[in-house]
Amino acid sequence: MPRALIVGGTGQVGRSTARRLLEAGWRVDLTGRNPAHLPADVAAAGGRFVAAARDDADQLLAALGDGADLLVDCICYTADDANRLLPLVRDAGSTVMISSKAVYVDGAGHHSNSAISPHFDGPIHESQPTMAPGDADYQTREGYGANKVAAEQVLLDSGLPVTVLRPSKIHGVGALRPREWVFVKRVLDRRPAVLLAHRGAGVDHPTAAANIAALIDLVAATPGQRILNSADPDAPSALEISRTIARQLDHVWDEVLLDDGADEALGRHPWDTPHPIVLDMTAAIDLGYTPAGDYATTVADEVAWLVSAARDGDGAEILPGPDDAYFGPMLDYAAEDRYLSTHRG
Ligand SMILES: NC(=O)c1ccc[n+]([C@@H]2O[C@H](COP(=O)([O-])OP(=O)(O)OC[C@H]3O[C@@H](n4cnc5c(N)ncnc54)[C@H](OP(=O)(O)O)[C@@H]3O)[C@@H](O)[C@H]2O)c1
Repeated sequence: MPRALIVGGTGQVGRSTARRLLEAGWRVDLTGRNPAHLPADVAAAGGRFVAAARDDADQLLAALGDGADLLVDCICYTADDANRLLPLVRDAGSTVMISSKAVYVDGAGHHSNSAISPHFDGPIHESQPTMAPGDADYQTREGYGANKVAAEQVLLDSGLPVTVLRPSKIHGVGALRPREWVFVKRVLDRRPAVLLAHRGAGVDHPTAAANIAALIDLVAATPGQRILNSADPDAPSALEISRTIARQLDHVWDEVLLDDGADEALGRHPWDTPHPIVLDMTAAIDLGYTPAGDYATTVADEVAWLVSAARDGDGAEILPGPDDAYFGPMLDYAAEDRYLSTHRG
């Protein structure tokens, strides 16, 4: 029976990968700090939790034990993280490091976390220039991508069979920041309208955790040193995403598509980009990748999970509260109601 070790495995990427591998007959161990984060269905299918702090090289090595056919690292953020992973990589048949599309820069050096949004010429190929490697705080807008590049380079320079995956905006069950919440929450609150900045035209490629899992499954069978984009087969706009979620929850609302000059406090959402950010998936497809499904298909489980969590089900503790700094400005009903009352009489 092949064995996989997933470092940082109880999050959205790790659990989705574990589910897929367990179904295919793998033995799967998932590391983390809190055993309570191991989903019950993954445990029931045979997934095993192993306590290992990401900054503790000895605990990581102990988690690997006698080696693994597949090593997946979901929480490799810096060159130091990558260096701590290398001893494990040497004892793994195939390794996957989860990086990010945040590494890519456009012709002016802008990236997806820049103050000025990037303007790419078209779908982004893996050969697109990246930020320079850096070691400033990785939890900052400028530090995140630069540290990912540095981590990628440590692993790729090793000469070992490491596949770097660069996902875009990840969605899945167990997401710590479930972006779809902006629309699910509106439905649960029976909002009669959805307001969308810039007519909801923004496109920022979604990546289902289930599609990352499908690519990891392929990489497990084809070890090699490479970089692959990882995104859904389709790249819906924010308007299309809002329609998908409303449809899945049987909700009808008025779409208020705000023009470019509208009050910037209105209609905020996570996919609001002036220029499309789309990943070119040709390299993965050429390797033999078959996605698990398109956006609408793969997002359904997350939508159902959010609804159930909101009804005090599994994961209720991680749902964003009214004071959440990220979601709060996107769910400012008072401002919306003022706008609707003056614009609709
Ligand atoms: N979210 C996005 O849209 C996005 C986009 C592109 C790339 N990415 C990349 O995707 C990866 C994140 O994947 P994910 O969303 O599945 O992660 P996640 O949901 O944040 O899960 C992280 C996992 O790692 C464990 N963990 C966190 N810190 C740890 C530590 N210091 N020591 C040991 N375990 C730790 C967590 O469990 P415990 O808390 O119990 O330890 C959990 O199992 C990152 O590499 C990120 O850069 C994310």
